[in-house]
Amino acid sequence: MSLKAAARPSRFLDSSMHFGTALLRLLPAELAHDIGMWMLERDLLKLVPLPSFGSSLTGLGMNIPGIGEIAHPIGLAAGFDKNARAPRGFARMGLSFLELGTVTPRPQDGNPKPRLFRLDDQMGLINRMGFNSDGASTVEGRLHALRWNHDPIPLGINLGKNKDTEIDAAIEDYSQGLETFGPHAKYFVINVSSPNTAGLRGLANEHFLKELGLRHKNILSKLWVKLDPDMKKRDFQGLVSALADIGFQGLVLTNTHRVERPEIGGMSGQAISAQSTACLEWAHEVTKGRMPLIASGGILSGQDVFQRIARGASAVQIYSALVYRGPLAVYSMLEELRNEMALRGFSFLSDVKGSYYND
Ligand SMILES: Cc1cc2nc3c(=O)[nH]c(=O)nc-3n(C[C@H](O)[C@H](O)[C@H](O)COP(=O)(O)O)c2cc1C
Repeated sequence: MSLKAAARPSRFLDSSMHFGTALLRLLPAELAHDIGMWMLERDLLKLVPLPSFGSSLTGLGMNIPGIGEIAHPIGLAAGFDKNARAPRGFARMGLSFLELGTVTPRPQDGNPKPRLFRLDDQMGLINRMGFNSDGASTVEGRLHALRWNHDPIPLGINLGKNKDTEIDAAIEDYSQGLETFGPHAKYFVINVSSPNTAGLRGLANEHFLKELGLRHKNILSKLWVKLDPDMKKRDFQGLVSALADIGFQGLVLTNTHRVERPEIGGMSGQAISAQSTACLEWAHEVTKGRMPLIASGGILSGQDVFQRIARGASAVQIYSALVYRGPLAVYSMLEELRNEMALRGFSFLSDVKGSYYND
């Protein structure tokens, strides 16, 4: 799989993609998602003359420690392709790295529908999917068949626990995931931050994560932890400091913000941008660059990408932007990012990294 070279999208392509995305938005959110996934799984985008990046990627390459070189900073956030059904389709949309999952050890249905809601005016969503997962064995089978070559698009697996696994036994669920997917994942994300599985966020503590880290110390350089944006600053920074000391490779900041209104679940999109950005700044204050960070949460434009990289992220992940901006989201965001860099006098994105903190 490679990031192809070619031209800008034609006006026709641009309009039809916008039209298609707007049409999907007329459907209930999860149905629209399922249709999108159906198309991506069949790699139908290959029939569309999508723009490709070519020389427009010059200067946008980044290195994520432990994951490797990526052609540009925009990757896929967890939850879109929970079951490894469509990595090729996502690669075709131009994403530079992919995070699949959350996968649970055993298959489970997740919460009853409806469980996904749009917040159109904020380019956001509320979800309470509750880890609908085909289970580790099925997902492993797909990855085995896929034989993914991580160069140039690294693929990571996000791991969770089953709903009916007691909290005291949760470590076994994560361990099982790590063992099952060892050969397939360039990196792992320990998800202790989704708001829709009772007790899961309670695992975001030093004791639990230290035990997990010690048990898997031979692969600590592959392990990232995804945190939620709802902790108090002092607790958050204490945990970040502990995770750095344990030796986890990096952090994904952040998952969704827990809400009860207008629906119970996790909120994403514009409304969580400030909170996620604050977490990035808090983490940077503690780690001062010694632990790589991947930003997620309300990244909807190239300007947003710029701001997160400037605040120390090595890369970003998107979910809501794909829902609201459609299959050309990555292309458009990269163009916006280039413009933002030009405006601020940067030729290389690696020079933008952390620049917000410079005197
Ligand atoms: C429908 C939906 C399902 C999600 N599922 C997961 C998941 O399984 N695991 C996870 O770590 N994050 C999950 N997320 C969170 C996203 O990965 C991302 O962190 C969050 O949506 C914020 O990014 P955004 O504002 O770009 O959407 C999910 C988000 C949505 C909207």
